[in-house]
Amino acid sequence: MNILEIIEKKTKGEELTKEELNYAIMGYVNDEIPDYQMSSFLMAVYLKGMTDKETIDLTDIMLHSGKVLDFGFDSIDKHSTGGVGDKTTIVLAPLMAALDVKMLKMSGRGLGHTGGTIDKLEAISGFQTNISLEEVQKQVEDIGVAIVSQMGGLCPADKKLYALRDVTGTVASIPLIASSIMSKKLASGASKIIIDLKVGNGALMTNLEDAKELARIMVNIGHLNGKETICVLTNMDEPLGNAIGNSLEVLEAIDTLKGNGPKDLNELVINLGSLMLSLDKNMPIEEAIEYVENALEKGLGYEKLVEMVAYQHGDIDNIPVSSKKFDIKAYQSGYIKSINALKLGELARKLGAGRFAKDDVIDQTVGFVLHKKVGDKVLKDEVLITVYYNEKDLPLSDIFDCFEYSDEEISKPTLIYEIIKKENL
Ligand code: URA
Repeated sequence: MNILEIIEKKTKGEELTKEELNYAIMGYVNDEIPDYQMSSFLMAVYLKGMTDKETIDLTDIMLHSGKVLDFGFDSIDKHSTGGVGDKTTIVLAPLMAALDVKMLKMSGRGLGHTGGTIDKLEAISGFQTNISLEEVQKQVEDIGVAIVSQMGGLCPADKKLYALRDVTGTVASIPLIASSIMSKKLASGASKIIIDLKVGNGALMTNLEDAKELARIMVNIGHLNGKETICVLTNMDEPLGNAIGNSLEVLEAIDTLKGNGPKDLNELVINLGSLMLSLDKNMPIEEAIEYVENALEKGLGYEKLVEMVAYQHGDIDNIPVSSKKFDIKAYQSGYIKSINALKLGELARKLGAGRFAKDDVIDQTVGFVLHKKVGDKVLKDEVLITVYYNEKDLPLSDIFDCFEYSDEEISKPTLIYEIIKKENL
């Protein structure tokens, strides 16, 4: 067997055997196959796709490329495929713990124009995210919740392949995304998996058809591995909530936990939270919704967040936001027709909220707060968005370009498109 034959076989669109996939992936992990050949292999997969069998085999090889954890207790993992303004995990993890659902959440950093939960939480002064498995297990036993960085030694194949995909134009491939996400989720020990699969211009999946196909294969892989897996397809055409940028998003998550969140984020939290609660407690969904709404109203999740932040050495009263800011006002009256999530995510990155190179240091204090969302009526000179900046400024025209107006009334976009479970495949 050699890598050239494998690349050529995939280039012809033929199905690879598990042995061939193993040879390619483990050869790359062990530095026996160079970047340029793996890039070519990835491009062949990107262009020709994979059969279900290949995707399932690839996931299995990646999953077993490193440690596979077993927490010794039932827990639910919630994963987002990435979007703009997505601070849902920071709300959901403590909220679920307040309702007696154990949450040991391993999260990632920002990727491209999308933000990452770990970068956001590090906006809380002193907050530690690099914690050993033993300490995290103790924390979850003590207070029911921890949000930490991915443990070293889990899925080294994904770590290496993802970094290469990021710079070879091979990220948006259904088999490569499915195997990347599912290998990590299966290796990280949760018994049940909920995936918030974002769809829209600010997401990796830009249309519903592709998103459904990705959901189908991920749900199947989860079940083949004995883990109940549910994909919730949600809108990412406009940013989620009002805040974009690390500190600003943590502050919005806190408002939401205190019952004062923006409507769309609140709706998403209630939908995902009730699904998680009903799954964990085997409870009818209507009952779960009542529990989640009650916890939000009473601020129970906020109390849990305070406990979690203190446990992880953070200071909840110290989440700095830049004092330099300016407002951008509407240049016409009308209705907001669209707010381009992708462009705003890229602009937040340019302000310093995200990275362009692996070693860039993030500015936690910058970002945007939207004052209008799609479907809102706006009058000329009303504030559309506040820009928090520091070192780097932005041309106003770039921000104006993110908004489209309509003279006609625009209905509010659908937030939850579909819930995909094993039984409805
Ligand atoms: N998130 C992941 O973890 N992997 C992908 O390939 C895409 C999104």
